[in-house]
Amino acid sequence: MKVSVRVPATTANLGPGFDCLGLALPVYNEITVEEQVMPGSGLEINIIEDSETYDILSIPKNEENIVYKAIELLYNFVGQSVNDIKITIKTGIPVTRGLGSSASVIVGGLIAANTLLGNPADDAVLLSIASEVEGHPDNVTPAMFGGFCLSCVEDDGSVSYSKIPWPQDWKLTVIIPDYELDTRIARSVLPENISISDAAYNIRKCALLIDAVYRQDANLMKKCLKDKIHQPYRQELIKGFKKLNETVQNKDNIIGCVISGAGPSILIISQNGGFEKIENDVKRIFEDLNVNCDIRTLNIENEGSKII
Ligand code: HSE
Repeated sequence: MKVSVRVPATTANLGPGFDCLGLALPVYNEITVEEQVMPGSGLEINIIEDSETYDILSIPKNEENIVYKAIELLYNFVGQSVNDIKITIKTGIPVTRGLGSSASVIVGGLIAANTLLGNPADDAVLLSIASEVEGHPDNVTPAMFGGFCLSCVEDDGSVSYSKIPWPQDWKLTVIIPDYELDTRIARSVLPENISISDAAYNIRKCALLIDAVYRQDANLMKKCLKDKIHQPYRQELIKGFKKLNETVQNKDNIIGCVISGAGPSILIISQNGGFEKIENDVKRIFEDLNVNCDIRTLNIENEGSKII
């Protein structure tokens, strides 16, 4: 028996919501798990590139693979050990681009393996394992449930989350550059400690951001996408981000521009065709930097992971 799961990409943080906010995008990975391998191999991992997802060769094909690690934790949770297992990842989500590709394969592997085991773990257990393996909950939560999610890891490792309806006419444009940025590097440039004033700044912005989404208030949302705890430290690593921010300031129907997750992709939120009006300016910024980009304007993905 084998089980395949389709899991969406995600964009995390949305400015002030570091390690907390994330939303799902209609770009997908497909993860298939089966308890059958070529004789004697024990673990078999296959990667199939569905589109231009780049760098798939950097994905480990041994016990270091994060999908395997997540599945192993699930088996341990139910008191079993993993014997023979075959994992196939069909990649549609660009790798190391800040679009939640690792979260998506972790979530897909867990849902598929749990189904193979007869569903011994509920969503709460799967989410908690996924968050542990990923290291933070903001990508894995919308990857699992879709939509715009707020998530928090509790002291016992469980994940509390809420899903809030995203305004239908707020479009998401992701600018995906042709270079990679490992999340570990993007996290290593962050300071160990931040000042109380920077923390308070982000708490205020993040609190108002949730209200802006809830009440679909684009004018309020425009003021809420700034942060002082990760983007100022990361922006040097994200080519074009500063210039893009200046370009979108005060443009009609542009709600804002943030680093997508840990980068290097950039997310622009707009409404009423706002992005189309600045698209040429955006393209020029990256042409001047000699950075090739894939630019996609998308709706939010509301359903999350699906067994297919
Ligand atoms: N919240 C995470 C970060 C997302 O910004 O490092 C990256 O996966």
